[in-house]
Amino acid sequence: MPERLIQLEQLRLAACAASSNAWSPHSGFKVGAAVADADGNVHVGCNVESDSYGLTQCAERNALSAAIVAGVHKGSMPLLVVYVPGDRALPPCGACRQVMMELLAPDARVISSCDGDHVLEWRRGELMPDAFTMD
Ligand code: THU
Repeated sequence: MPERLIQLEQLRLAACAASSNAWSPHSGFKVGAAVADADGNVHVGCNVESDSYGLTQCAERNALSAAIVAGVHKGSMPLLVVYVPGDRALPPCGACRQVMMELLAPDARVISSCDGDHVLEWRRGELMPDAFTMD
């Protein structure tokens, strides 16, 4: 299997495993995300909901935060994989797209996966037109 597909499958499995830790008493929806850094290390996140609904954190932003906590540099992460339960991959929300635009590598790929074969894929530049930036 090509190196690229092995890394993709590794990230999909990591995202799937992370989703089992999701704290989602309100939606019941368990999302996982895994982001690779430039050295191939994997950083994961799951969604964490709050009884104050608006404070909910998505899996994608938690994975990116975990990478930053681990010392990964902004703009260096080449690949982020999302896992959602069910047969249909889903696109990331707008808040996560903004943070992906800021933290992923300029040519990074974002892939959404599920329990079936359905896959969605974007390049970072396709996620959000005219994203806010301080750069
Ligand atoms: N959620 C994510 O974790 N990522 C997304 O891209 C969209 C939604 C979570 C937030 C909330 O806990 C649940 O899914 C339902 O919206």
